Amino acid sequence: MRPKRSEGLKMSTSIIELRNVDKSFGPIDVLHQISLKVSAGEVLCLLGDNGAGKSTLIKTLAGVHKPTRGQILLDGKAVSFERPLDAQEKGIATVHQFGGTFPLMSIGRSFFVGVEPTKGWGPFKVFDRKKANDIAVKAVQDFGITRITDGDRLVGGLSGGERQSLAIARAVHLGARVLILDEPTAALGVKQAAHVLRIVNEAKRRGLAVIFITHQVMHAMAVGDHFAVLIRGAIAADFRKGDKTREEITDLMAGGETMADLEAQLENYMETHEGNPPPTTP
Ligand SMILES: Nc1ncnc2c1ncn2[C@@H]1O[C@H](COP(=O)(O)OP(=O)(O)O)[C@@H](O)[C@H]1O
Ligand SMILES: [Mg+2]
Repeated sequence: MRPKRSEGLKMSTSIIELRNVDKSFGPIDVLHQISLKVSAGEVLCLLGDNGAGKSTLIKTLAGVHKPTRGQILLDGKAVSFERPLDAQEKGIATVHQFGGTFPLMSIGRSFFVGVEPTKGWGPFKVFDRKKANDIAVKAVQDFGITRITDGDRLVGGLSGGERQSLAIARAVHLGARVLILDEPTAALGVKQAAHVLRIVNEAKRRGLAVIFITHQVMHAMAVGDHFAVLIRGAIAADFRKGDKTREEITDLMAGGETMADLEAQLENYMETHEGNPPPTTP
């Protein structure tokens, strides 16, 4: 056994835990007996091919869906969310692939959506633009996004990676304790993805519990402490950093078949089909 590296965090119960969660939509069983835990300052990478149930799993955590069976525990206590706002109020923040912020708003404005007074018509009247800009720019700079210096810039003018980073910084600023990232790097180039991965590490350093969804093994390996591979809605593997190689993880994600086997099957198919690859299934 390798010695455990201490990160200076005290031993704690998991912030968030799923216990034997099943999720069905009518007759369609999507998730089967999912049990997972994430502690403060830890990144759980949820890996799996398209259709494996990753989004359904995090929507269940985020109050979009209710588990059909099983429990969600927050700080060791069972919770039940009727709607996404319930989960948000408990500090569970979800950032989607495209950042989830508002392209036509300024950076400062977008930072405070949903937390300004919402009664009556005129929240903008009481909105202190300069103060909002100062807070937003400081928060993103503290996250290492030093290129953002002007809170009046429109979110839509930021790069994909900057938008993701802004959305993460915003969630942390608003007090998120659990950060769920659904494929944040999928649509990004190499540099932009690296930027987002740095932000994920910063969120982890600040003690958030992070659930990072990806099907890019390299991205997972760059930030993950703990990995779970989902295949057809069930956890096919659950392991810690350093326990498996990149090849082993890639093979697991392909449903237990090794990439070498898949390549051989493909070659075989093409030989018997005049060099054509097999039709893709949706
Ligand atoms: N609301 C729904 N009703 C019925 N089936 C659904 C619903 N949402 C997701 N599914 C099914 O659940 C499976 C997993 O989907 P999803 O969670 O989006 O996978 P992933 O995010 O891993 O690509 C898919 O087969 C999908 O069709
Ligand atoms: Mg998905």
